[in-house]
Amino acid sequence: MTANVDAFDAWIRSSFVEMNTELEELYFGQEDRANVEGVGDAIKAQLRDEGRKFVRALMIEGNTDEGFDCAFGLLGDLGLYLAALRRHELTNPAREKKSPFHEASALGLHIGASLGVAPRFATSHLSTHNFAIDGKPKSFTSLKDEYLFLDLNTRGIFSYKRAADALMRIAPLGVSHPVALMLFEDAKCALDDVSRYDDALFDQLDTDRFFYCVRPYYKPYRVGRQEYRGANAGDFSGINEIDLLLGLCRANDPYYAQLLVDKMLFMMPADQASLRDCMRRKPLLDELLDAREKHSGERWFKDAARAFLAVCDAHGAAAARHHDRLVARFIDKPSKSLETRHLEQLTASGPPLPVLLNALAILRDLRMAANRSDIPTAYARLQELRAAID
Ligand code: HEM
Repeated sequence: MTANVDAFDAWIRSSFVEMNTELEELYFGQEDRANVEGVGDAIKAQLRDEGRKFVRALMIEGNTDEGFDCAFGLLGDLGLYLAALRRHELTNPAREKKSPFHEASALGLHIGASLGVAPRFATSHLSTHNFAIDGKPKSFTSLKDEYLFLDLNTRGIFSYKRAADALMRIAPLGVSHPVALMLFEDAKCALDDVSRYDDALFDQLDTDRFFYCVRPYYKPYRVGRQEYRGANAGDFSGINEIDLLLGLCRANDPYYAQLLVDKMLFMMPADQASLRDCMRRKPLLDELLDAREKHSGERWFKDAARAFLAVCDAHGAAAARHHDRLVARFIDKPSKSLETRHLEQLTASGPPLPVLLNALAILRDLRMAANRSDIPTAYARLQELRAAID
């Protein structure tokens, strides 16, 4: 790390967190908790100006190439700073044609383009690649609900990655290999863990604190001219690898393929490569259905199909929890009590809330292989497999 990178990182881990937390307490103490205008203006200006000094020095230094972790870590720090400016309404893509933060944009574009990722902070900066110092990972605030959210998100993401890793290892063995059963079981356990962490969030996270003080840092913002959507816990390849390897979603479904293309740059380069690899593989569901005619009476086929179906059920159960519990409790419900002017702000530059909810419901139903005739779910094909082992 260069001295400038170090200094900026130290600021992001200290004064930046203190100022954000102070502002959150001011907003949250109001009768209208969603109001940001005219509150804590001196702190907002301090946050903007202190950050700008570090960013200017880094932009002039130019040479940020001290290895991927260093450049990626710096992009994360820069992204946290820009996301905070957006959260405190010091920038808003709906009223601007380009980011008012020229130095930060130049630095972000430089690093993002050189690494092959979006020039903003992504989920991995606050989860799988959030380097802790002295037991403390990075965060926007020191609020306990943000810590809880980040901790459980990270656990959920790693659990999805474990499931994807196990399924990926089945392809070179083939579904009839005796050890494939162990890998199916590993994937199921990992997906059960995802549900467990979802349940912990559901039980422990405070709705208002999350809605008013944590989620606003995940809004879209501009870097240069272009607006980049907010980060979300789904910006890693593992969940899509599971979708594709199981055969619940298809890379040639235009809706799903579009989603993959759109999220590609929000993932780490290694995730991008592994997702591309999965897009070329034959789904396990197809392997099993192809084997059905010749082998459905055999022990290995019944065992493998049962183990495969148990993984599909666990994946569907986690998807249902995400949508029907987490999204419903922490986004949909609180947004209903929001004043219209704030609701516009909530959805500004992102898709309107009903559109977002509908898109998430489609993903849930694909993963659950729901019986829907309007989208291409795996319902009928899973029924065929179930029938073959009954
Ligand atoms: C308080 C908890 C959570 C809430 C309220 C929540 C809400 C959301 C919302 C609203 C989106 C849509 C993206 C957007 O906001 O623009 C999303 C996407 C996503 N979230 Fe969560 N989420 C939560 C926790 C988690 C956890 C723990 C995981 C597990 C890793 C997760 C996995 C995903 C995935 C994979 C996506 C991408 C869409 C998909 O492929 O389904 N989320 N989430």
